[in-house]
Amino acid sequence: MSENNKSKKSGGNMGRSGGPMGSFASGPVVKAKDFKGTLKRLVGYLKPQRTNFILVFIFAIISTIFTIVGPKISAKAIDKLVEGIMNKYTLIGLHAQQEKIATLVKANPAAAKSPKVVAGLAQIKAGISKVMNVNSGKIDFTYILNIIVLLIGLYLVSTIFGFLQQYIMAGVAQKTVYNLRRDVDEKLSRLPLKFFDARTHGEILSRVTNDVDNISTTLQQSLTQLITSFVTIVGIIVMMLTISPIMTLVVILTLPLYIFVTAFVAKRSQKYFAAQQKEIGEINGHVEEMYTGHKIVKSFGHEKDSIQVFRNINDRLYVAGWKAQFISGIIMPLMRFVSNLGYVVVCIVGGLLATQGKVSIGDIQAFIQYSNQFTQPIVQTANIANIIQSTVASAERIFELLDEVEELPESVDGKLIEFPKGEVKFENVDFSYKTEEPLIKNMNIDVKQGHTIAIVGPTGAGKTTLVNLLMRFYEIDAGKITVDGVDIRDMKRAQLRNMFGMVLQDTWLYNGTIMENIAYGRKGATEEETMQAARAAHAHHFIKTLPDGYNTILNEEASNISQGQKQLLTIARAILANPTIMILDEATSSVDSRTEVYIQRAMSELMQNRTSFVIAHRLSTIKDAELILVMNKGSIIEMGNHDELIAKKGFYEDLYNSQFSGANLDNEVV
Ligand SMILES: Nc1ncnc2c1ncn2[C@@H]1O[C@H](COP(=O)(O)OP(=O)(O)O)[C@@H](O)[C@H]1O
Ligand SMILES: [Mg+2]
Repeated sequence: MSENNKSKKSGGNMGRSGGPMGSFASGPVVKAKDFKGTLKRLVGYLKPQRTNFILVFIFAIISTIFTIVGPKISAKAIDKLVEGIMNKYTLIGLHAQQEKIATLVKANPAAAKSPKVVAGLAQIKAGISKVMNVNSGKIDFTYILNIIVLLIGLYLVSTIFGFLQQYIMAGVAQKTVYNLRRDVDEKLSRLPLKFFDARTHGEILSRVTNDVDNISTTLQQSLTQLITSFVTIVGIIVMMLTISPIMTLVVILTLPLYIFVTAFVAKRSQKYFAAQQKEIGEINGHVEEMYTGHKIVKSFGHEKDSIQVFRNINDRLYVAGWKAQFISGIIMPLMRFVSNLGYVVVCIVGGLLATQGKVSIGDIQAFIQYSNQFTQPIVQTANIANIIQSTVASAERIFELLDEVEELPESVDGKLIEFPKGEVKFENVDFSYKTEEPLIKNMNIDVKQGHTIAIVGPTGAGKTTLVNLLMRFYEIDAGKITVDGVDIRDMKRAQLRNMFGMVLQDTWLYNGTIMENIAYGRKGATEEETMQAARAAHAHHFIKTLPDGYNTILNEEASNISQGQKQLLTIARAILANPTIMILDEATSSVDSRTEVYIQRAMSELMQNRTSFVIAHRLSTIKDAELILVMNKGSIIEMGNHDELIAKKGFYEDLYNSQFSGANLDNEVV
């Protein structure tokens, strides 16, 4: 996996790490090259879900509004409570005055008539009746209860709408990424091998999984959060303004402080997060290298060095990680400090206004609640901005893949060879993997039905390339290749490839039973047929010795059977497929000599009565071939059967003399 790929991979999910303050605390965000264009295209993917989207929007707005009005309504209850308590104390005061006057009058009855006393009593009476008019001077618990019920109702409605919103959004997000994933997968199957040659598996995997995942999470979480945050910010400002424009101003004035603090911390922490990311990449690379090459490291006695390298990287990772986490951890307390500063100022201003009777106690408590709720959506929105950037970058990588040039389209009326014979012709074929480096030039081959063609030549001569062209894994630049006289470009790829069976040096087996792996060669093969093929491939015997026989499950790397046994299975698979033309590319290269004998026999079985292309080491195979192609540097330099080529005293004879000298006829040619 390349370094470049590593950083891309981790870039996919960046902005989500680092806890609640994600974006401020995480590493640099990978940005899209064409943000607008990509965003537009992404929106295009959401279009089929338009109605659902609008519903999500509306529900999010309703849900948020119902939450936001809460404090303002609870203010009413508090005001009522305060009023009730005040009334109670006013009443007590008035009664006390009344009694004082009464005792005065008792001691001095004449004073009862004095205008001052009369007026005073009247005033007190008026006061009492005024207080009594308000809910008989008691705390209005019914009113408060009603408010509480109302509040519960509001929050309930808010929750229900919030729930609905999430429910619909889950569908929208999953459906969208489902389509995206399907498109990517279908695209991958239409891409030429050239595309895969230029990329690592990890890079391709990362697009199908990480990048799609990133989009899914953003749709699911961040988008609704963005809507909610936006509505919350606007709603809170409106509510605060209705309470007190001056206090609102105070809160808004603290905002630059937040921005300053976050920018201050973000700048410092990003550096360390980037360092942390880099060290993580290195440690992954090192571990991957050391454990895929576990045996080699051990056999060369490099464990100590390997451990030392690991320690060094780990030490650097520790420092970078520690600093990154510490600095990003500072942000929360700092934010709380700023928030508390604002809180104090709001309280002072609120208190002053309250003493002037400009705001009620309930309103002040509502206001404090609002100002507390204010910072969260702002921080969230800033976070989401980063997340959206990394999401659009992910989308861009996916769209890049979707825009790759595809294989030439299938010919419309694919010619079908009903009874294929297996005559193959190359006519003036030119080919290059890279346009600037021509490899095969003007190649001509004529292969008769049932013949065995051996291809020999040094590594890199173009032997495998020849096979690739025959199977149409790559498109030729000039000339034509025909099978039974039909240009392979006039056939459907699947039909063409159906005519071929392949056994390669790298065996490909998948996680499944041996039975399933062999049966892969032909759809709908019965167990009997499968076992028959295994017998023909000389694999039956070893399979039977396994504890679970044909039901033995091959693990991911099929490391529970030997390389040679794997090869026997792929040969059995090819025999079962019963192809017209067989291709054996260095099938015995990485096999022990005992198994090789079996493979040799199995291969002869396989090559009987069908056209076969064999890229092999074994002289026995080469000697019996009807045609030997000697290749070097992309060209066929000699052609003929063994005796003809020896008589020619050319490259082949040289090769023969240098490598099969003496009685050692089983030596290697390649
Ligand atoms: N997928 C590819 N992309 C680019 N160049 C390739 C690719 N495969 C092979 N080559 C190059 O083409 C030449 C022939 O390779 P190949 O046919 O695999 O040789 P052989 O099988 O005879 O060892 C080599 O120089 C090799 O580096
Ligand atoms: Mg090869």
